[in-house]
Amino acid sequence: MATEHPQDQHDHQHGQAHGHDHGHDHGSADRMAAWQETDPAEWFTERFWDDRYRERPIWSGNANQRLVETAADLTPGRALDVGCGEGGDAIWLAAQGWQVTGSDVSPMALERARQAGEAAGVADAVTWEQADGCGDWAPPAGAYDLVTASFLQFPRSELADFHRKLAAAVAPGGTLLITAHHADSHAGEGTPFTADLFATAQEMADGLALDDGWEVSATDPTREAVFPPGPEGTLMSVRDAVLRAVRRR
Ligand SMILES: C[S@@+](CC[C@H](N)C(=O)[O-])C[C@H]1O[C@@H](n2cnc3c(N)ncnc32)[C@H](O)[C@@H]1O
Repeated sequence: MATEHPQDQHDHQHGQAHGHDHGHDHGSADRMAAWQETDPAEWFTERFWDDRYRERPIWSGNANQRLVETAADLTPGRALDVGCGEGGDAIWLAAQGWQVTGSDVSPMALERARQAGEAAGVADAVTWEQADGCGDWAPPAGAYDLVTASFLQFPRSELADFHRKLAAAVAPGGTLLITAHHADSHAGEGTPFTADLFATAQEMADGLALDDGWEVSATDPTREAVFPPGPEGTLMSVRDAVLRAVRRR
């Protein structure tokens, strides 16, 4: 069986144990084809993602496990979710009392997120913004108590610059959370992806090179996830690369 694209493989959970409730399974072969047939230079563009989202919803709508784990220790404030997709994380944060900006390159995803936010009754707590994180975009400096990006995979050459923009948006006392796929679970045979596409958490931390005004934790933990997502999947161990950094001042 072909492996899903790394960006399709992540689990969205409610934060309860065994919350493996993926909402959508459209077949891994289908989903791999989009990646295989597209020039890698297009993998991070509005057109590519709008084409994917146009057909049907992709994600379950639930929050990602790493975000739920991290936010559990935080007091709700202002949050930025970059690459928010259909809004599962942003809407979950809003429901916990956060004032959230959800940002994504895909207007199709953002429209679906907006509708989901309305349905969840948190429309007033979330602002949706279209932005290309690969471009000149930079979020407002020092503006957020939490900046999170879940499974927004960029080319390695652009990663450090992108992560620095995210870090710069964290307010003193705030938290940066970057959750990414790990090569162990997402590259290799049956995928169009090579291991060098994926940074470990330590490599992300090295690229960011935060000074001692930050407390940094870089780990590559596994989690249990149904793979491929959906009723045909089986429960298996999936590795993430997780960078958490708290800005002391
Ligand atoms: C794997 S999805 C993750 C979505 C969401 N964070 C989640 O966990 O459900 C990656 C998201 O990144 C967005 N994306 C891809 N390239 C981007 C770019 N250049 N700038 C901003 N967002 C981008 C895609 O539209 C997509 O919604």
